[in-house]
Amino acid sequence: MKSNYSLIPLLLSKNLGSGKKIASSLLRIGKAHYIPKRDYGYNHFKNLSLVYFKPTGACNLRCKMCGQYGEKGVMNDCAAEENKKILPLETWKIFIDQILVQKPVIYVWGGEPFLYPDIFPLCKYAIDKGLLVSVNTNGTLMEKHAERIVSDRWSTIFVSLDAFRETNDELRGKGTYDKVIAGFNAINREKEKQKTKYPLLSIVTCVTNKNYTDLANLCEASKEHKIDMHIFNLGTYTNDNIVRAQKKYMKEIFDTDIDCLDAYNTGYNLGIDGQKCYQILHNIQEKNYGHPIITVPTLNPQKTHTYYAELETPVRNHCVVPWCQLNVNYNGDVHFCADYPDFIIGNIKDTPIKEIYNGDRADKFRKALRESKGGMFPGCLRCYQNMLFGKKIKGF
Ligand SMILES: C[S@@+](CC[C@H](N)C(=O)[O-])C[C@H]1O[C@@H](n2cnc3c(N)ncnc32)[C@H](O)[C@@H]1O
Ligand code: SF4
Repeated sequence: MKSNYSLIPLLLSKNLGSGKKIASSLLRIGKAHYIPKRDYGYNHFKNLSLVYFKPTGACNLRCKMCGQYGEKGVMNDCAAEENKKILPLETWKIFIDQILVQKPVIYVWGGEPFLYPDIFPLCKYAIDKGLLVSVNTNGTLMEKHAERIVSDRWSTIFVSLDAFRETNDELRGKGTYDKVIAGFNAINREKEKQKTKYPLLSIVTCVTNKNYTDLANLCEASKEHKIDMHIFNLGTYTNDNIVRAQKKYMKEIFDTDIDCLDAYNTGYNLGIDGQKCYQILHNIQEKNYGHPIITVPTLNPQKTHTYYAELETPVRNHCVVPWCQLNVNYNGDVHFCADYPDFIIGNIKDTPIKEIYNGDRADKFRKALRESKGGMFPGCLRCYQNMLFGKKIKGF
């Protein structure tokens, strides 16, 4: 299985300038593993390499495994109320000006980013300032906005597709597959018209027990759509024991109640045949679909069963996220963990980001994480960011 670092040559070959920016961000994140993990009294802000923007928590879909709107999603009962709290464009612009000095890569997600009313001016502002902006979307509104996406030079669009038509639509909603394909076609038409390679098109597939046997069909279909890369996200899962341990830990150390982790206690990992799943992914990687395919995390094939069936066994540890990344929520709250925004280190409406990132709450989190077993909390066991950037445990 190939890792995210294997994409660097592709990115450099598409455009040297943009490729270098991503390579530099990835290398800075990689370096964070090798420099001492300090906490209090240090300027951490100078190592900021990747910033997640979540401009909206609203979404037009209800995907079954989603931590926000799935069966146990945290947004299910409060989306309308929470949507009133979105930040005005001006606040995002001030924030962008504050992080500019570090030249971090920007990853926009949500909710569904196209539902943020000023998504285009927001991305354009960052791009015009020289930042690389990628957007993760469900792709259902991409066709409508194709001309603008291409003319504004978004760097990469990560589009979620979980299987070929029928299975995808069972998970993500009726008609979603065809809307995404119409979006790909519109973007490709615009790229040709506007004579550009950007944005790169990436499919992101979340592997669950509902779709893992159908992945090759999706790859076969994707050959027609000029896809630049395909990422298989092996999925964020947890169980009762892990949730209990995390709640206890976070209450004791930070006096914080944990609501978000439970949303990933979905059971969509259960019953996955590790050997079969590995074989499917292996066959996909052996075949030439015309674009690179990676998995997150990359895994020793023998451990695929462990990943899905033994959630309490770590496969990555020593998370580096608080030393090089941050996430800004739709209401301005800043936190390190994208999927688990329970521990807030500040809010960009009140405080400059450098002050927040080097502040007391951020350092308290760093110190606690550094001192925890394996450099991670109990709830970090299958966290997507840890899977992407955590330290590979020997044998996995
Ligand atoms: C929460 S969505 C937000 C962006 C956009 N709405 C979308 O669907 O792409 C971000 C990514 O998380 C993935 N995702 C949803 N539920 C997940 C889970 N339980 N484990 C891992 N990834 C998940 C989605 O498939 C998507 O690629
Ligand atoms: S489109 Fe994205 S945010 Fe919306 S429900 Fe699906 S995975 Fe969740």
